[in-house]
Amino acid sequence: MTRSSLDFSASDFRLLLDQAVALVLDQFKDLDNHKAYHFFPQKELASWFDQPVPVKGMDVAKLLEEVKQQVLDTATGNLGPHMYAYVMAGGTQVSILAELLAATVNQNAGKWHLAPAMNEIEKRVVQWGSAMIGYGKEVAGVLVSGGSAANLAGLTIARNIFFEKQGVRTKGLFGMPPFIVYASSEVHGCVDKSLEQLGIGTNNLRKIQTKSDFTMDLGALEKQINLDRASGFLPFCIIGNAGTVNTGAIDDLEALALLAQKQELWFHVDGAYGGLAASLDTLKAKYKGLELADSVAVDFHKWLYQPFEAGCIMVKDWDTLRRAYFKKADYLDTAFERDKGRLDFNEHHFQLSRNAKGLKIWMSFKAYGLSAFQEMIQKDIDLARYLADQVEESPDFELHARSDLAICCFRYRGTLREREDIEQLNKDLIAALEEDGRVFITGTKLHGEFVLRACLINHRKQKHTVDYLLEVIRDVAKTSCTTS
Ligand SMILES: Cc1ncc(COP(=O)(O)O)c(C=O)c1O
Repeated sequence: MTRSSLDFSASDFRLLLDQAVALVLDQFKDLDNHKAYHFFPQKELASWFDQPVPVKGMDVAKLLEEVKQQVLDTATGNLGPHMYAYVMAGGTQVSILAELLAATVNQNAGKWHLAPAMNEIEKRVVQWGSAMIGYGKEVAGVLVSGGSAANLAGLTIARNIFFEKQGVRTKGLFGMPPFIVYASSEVHGCVDKSLEQLGIGTNNLRKIQTKSDFTMDLGALEKQINLDRASGFLPFCIIGNAGTVNTGAIDDLEALALLAQKQELWFHVDGAYGGLAASLDTLKAKYKGLELADSVAVDFHKWLYQPFEAGCIMVKDWDTLRRAYFKKADYLDTAFERDKGRLDFNEHHFQLSRNAKGLKIWMSFKAYGLSAFQEMIQKDIDLARYLADQVEESPDFELHARSDLAICCFRYRGTLREREDIEQLNKDLIAALEEDGRVFITGTKLHGEFVLRACLINHRKQKHTVDYLLEVIRDVAKTSCTTS
């Protein structure tokens, strides 16, 4: 192959593209029988990559073959239907096209004139996302890496705007009374991390108890806010869950919004997992109050089935973002531009250089249409209900939590009767199932008890793949777990 600078001739590049396309198509073969996990001991896997920095380049056709064997064919099976761990979506084929094209033009979406079309696409995607979840027409927002980054952004904006008069951006938090954030005990750990980063500290996050359905206990919340005020603390923000990571519980967002208004607090909603399900008519009532939030975090790499990364923070107007983030720098100044109306993302968000995440989301919306996504989200939810029904009807399983969304928490118990034995069996199962690799599932704790947690967020899942999950769990428990 011939190369000038770092580029190949057009004909050689075409050959490489063709080879890459063949690798892509290969990944979609026989998805039903894809392994969900390829178990290799860490040391063995690390040894494949144990090489010094290559000084001379290698043949790229051979390199692609190496990538196929070591990376693609060993990849954790997010594409296939047997992934149930964490919140892993299957990706869309249109996004694969978009990622290739976005990498080709290599746009920096941080400033408008560096990526004009990509910037307008990103603003449009934020508007479509807002319309999808019913957040309203008045919206401003930025695409970020994921739910953690979106929640960090929401809480940063909350802190900077809420304490604007105190000059917290320049003076920091020094000299301020401790100010308090409220969320349910089911809130995602990225909120703890965010508060650590923001200098607020996790001691000032009040994790309010939940009711039996894992939604926040509003009476306990109000009592805590009043107690904190009486003790000289400064309540400042309530976080509502629009779908918890453990069970998909949706807090009473309307009640939280009204309480936040009454108490003059910022209202942030973590909709990273469940936010996009607000677009379903069957669930609209559950999300009432979302439209009143000051800021909302959503994840398009969850229920819009986008490849990683694609999170989004939304607020009501651009001025809020600018007040939270704008910093003047001579080398970035575009005040002299003649074309007014341009909006620079770097003035409305922390990052300067940013990739163009919007293209894959925009192309997916256009290619499939909102209704196709709504259908797939509903299918995931129906399948989670189907799984819960199967578990409930099987004497060798026990159901621990159903969900309005697409999560089901349960345990395999076989013929065991003692709680400790059942708990140990399910802990053992996690590692045994990983080694087996036919399905991939992880666990969590509900009310202090360890349970298996299946999250169904993959448009390729069917009823028979859900049946297969239970079959494999039974099989692995019997063959690989001494406790069973
Ligand atoms: C409710 C909730 N919030 C935040 C996050 C973090 O999102 P990400 O993994 O995209 O950073 C998750 C991830 O599962 C989540 O379920």
